[in-house]
Amino acid sequence: MFRSLLVIFLLLGFPISALAGTDNRTQLIPKEGAHQFPYFDYLTPVWSYNGQVPGPTLRGKAGTTLIVDVDNQLREATSVHWHGLRIDNAMDGVPGVTQDPIEPGERFTYRLRLEEAGTYWYHPHLNAGEQLERGLKGVLIVDERKKLPWSQDVVWLLDDWRLRKDGTIYPYFNTRHDLMHDGRWGNAITINGKVKPTLMVSPGERIRLRIINGANARVFAGSLAGLPMQVIAVDGRPVSTFFAFDHFVLSPGNRVDLDITIPDDAGGRIFQFEDRFTRRPHILGRIKVKDEKPLKTPQFTPPKAKGFIPAAIFEKLPVTKTWDLNAIRGGRFGIGWAMNHRLWPDADKALFKIGQPIKIRFANSSTRLHPMHIHGAFFRVLEINGQPEVEPFTRDTVLVGPRESIVIGLIPEHKGVWVAHCHIQSHADAGMMTSIKVD
Ligand code: C2O
Ligand code: CU
Repeated sequence: MFRSLLVIFLLLGFPISALAGTDNRTQLIPKEGAHQFPYFDYLTPVWSYNGQVPGPTLRGKAGTTLIVDVDNQLREATSVHWHGLRIDNAMDGVPGVTQDPIEPGERFTYRLRLEEAGTYWYHPHLNAGEQLERGLKGVLIVDERKKLPWSQDVVWLLDDWRLRKDGTIYPYFNTRHDLMHDGRWGNAITINGKVKPTLMVSPGERIRLRIINGANARVFAGSLAGLPMQVIAVDGRPVSTFFAFDHFVLSPGNRVDLDITIPDDAGGRIFQFEDRFTRRPHILGRIKVKDEKPLKTPQFTPPKAKGFIPAAIFEKLPVTKTWDLNAIRGGRFGIGWAMNHRLWPDADKALFKIGQPIKIRFANSSTRLHPMHIHGAFFRVLEINGQPEVEPFTRDTVLVGPRESIVIGLIPEHKGVWVAHCHIQSHADAGMMTSIKVD
């Protein structure tokens, strides 16, 4: 039956992919390479995927499988984790938990069953404080089954680098200073590897701008003052109510998708993308509107999601698990970042039942930042410092500020062992990681 159908489609010249959705196969080669920063008239040695900084943007349609062959050409072991993607646990890319490290010269094939459309990213999960910092990261987009008529779909991967005057990457990672503070903050900020790039748009255009914080430790609070826009997705998933982007905090790991309409009369104008998280605001990039006749603005409503993890489920539920976040003596670096006073891999782990609502409290006893990330799950923020604070969206990473206590709610949906850790890489490398077993 299928055979004869196939023959008919071939005869008609009809792409068979229209039937089932094509599975894509692609290759990622982590290797040493070089990148041009505008500060130096020579190249800076980096580590990259396929020789690109950032790595290639991988794309696939919801409902298809993306196969990624990793060929490790680095001089050390690595792995690839698909941040935010809910996939088969064996494909999650965490050495020691879901797979063995991919040794130099070895290959590993990831089969990613793409279920949920949205903005995700990928990075190593081994010696991450160094490997991410040297340039290993990239964006992964899962496209909607039905394409939305944006006039442009733009990706901005934010990153920062600590560069020395000689044009090399500062080669000491997880230093005492990084560990005592909020990790390694760089002195050069890039968008897609470029310093202060300009995005060209036309009046009347409606663009989807996907912003990903891929930095090791730096937190951004971006603003694009003057442009009519709203946040339509957080950490990959559609929000239930659109809201303003200004002041939205993007900690390492977080993503937002913006729906921006360029006004018809904005021809010739420049809008600054500015970071206001630190005391000194600085410009990260620009959107420049061509001085030309306006294009017709596409009219449609982006998807909204109401049903993700209804907050009401958690109302009467006691907190299932509390993780205290603080520094202790010990570990690989002498300074350990602990969850309940224990360091990975000797962690205070959790065991949850599939389908059962769980309330987790992250209680930050320290004065540092801890963007806490959970693999294989999305959660709702329910409470901040004892006050109800229900966000109109779900996340996979939440910033827990100094001395802050945040309660989140989640419903484990995927079996396996999923790690949960601080996304400041130095903190994670210093032990701030645990795991959640779902069965
Ligand atoms: Cu960006 Cu363990 O993840
Ligand atoms: Cu931390």
